[in-house]
Amino acid sequence: MTDELIARAVEILRRGGLVAFPTETVYGLGADAENELAVRRIFAVKGRPATHPLIVHLPGAPALGAWASRVPEEAQALAKAFWPGPLTLVLPRTGRASDAVTGGQETVALRVPAHPLALELLHAFGGGLAAPSANRFGGVSPTTAGHVRADLGDEVDLILDGGPCAVGVESTIVDLASEEPAILRPGGVPREELERVLRRPLPVRGAGAVRVPGTRESHYAPRAGLVVAPLAELARRARALAAQGKRVAVMSPSRGELPGTIAHFQVPADPAGFARALYATLREIDQAGFEVIVAPEPPPEGVGLAVRDRLARASAPRRLY
Ligand code: TXA
Ligand code: MG
Repeated sequence: MTDELIARAVEILRRGGLVAFPTETVYGLGADAENELAVRRIFAVKGRPATHPLIVHLPGAPALGAWASRVPEEAQALAKAFWPGPLTLVLPRTGRASDAVTGGQETVALRVPAHPLALELLHAFGGGLAAPSANRFGGVSPTTAGHVRADLGDEVDLILDGGPCAVGVESTIVDLASEEPAILRPGGVPREELERVLRRPLPVRGAGAVRVPGTRESHYAPRAGLVVAPLAELARRARALAAQGKRVAVMSPSRGELPGTIAHFQVPADPAGFARALYATLREIDQAGFEVIVAPEPPPEGVGLAVRDRLARASAPRRLY
């Protein structure tokens, strides 16, 4: 059954089609990274500006050399420690990575995802798969096949269903092409773990900003407004918003002092659990038609740093309250 599906997916990809597939972080919208027309279709379907480069997904670290012209020792060490896993390495590109994939940059983003279906697909396909998150540009990333269907529906040729994503936030992106290595996007692999392997501090560069000059639009954002506050202040903020007549939903580990008249959506208290539930809960609250979401800010440690980053990007440009 799975073999047949994978064979169909490979056939679609070879023809230049689009296949959505599960990864451990979020669902990806995949195309043959070496087929420029297919890659352009990704941008069209997502409504994504062509200047936002894509991550190329590989079946294993040995494929690195085909896509990166220089693989420094630190890249080898990180690949060895965290692949397959939620880590993306930005390295100088070879000719295999076209301008369509890299947005004209001289670097390429590479990752080996840790999901059995994704790895099966990548091994069967044999090449690199360019894949952004399988949602409309700027919106909340999909963590189930149902989310992908709801966002992109018939515009995808095939959706592989691998169940809910285990990590729930995107990969950590590490820039190893510049003089000074840095985290470009906090994600599934905690900063502390990267620093342990590299044995040096790894700064977060441009956190909260999309890495394209001049663009600061909202990202990872639900339709509803989002207010982020310390856990102890959630109930007070929610009551104040409700008093203004807003339809408010609170997303937190427990109801606490929240009045029964205010909607509550439970998320796990531990950062990893919060990360896993984050996007699905934002979607659920949107579906239910709330105007404002009040969410707690996790401590900036472990995967909590990625959750903070996504909440900040989802709330920042449209902070109306
Ligand atoms: O977990 C993930 O990374 C997911 C799954 C599907 O693998 N993918 C994902 O892709 O989040 P996307 O397209 O939504 O985000 C990719 C990010 C973008 O912010 C893009 O700017 C950055 O990667 N990126 C890609 N190539 C880059 C490069 N050469 N230099 C710097 N940033 C790059
Ligand atoms: Mg995305």
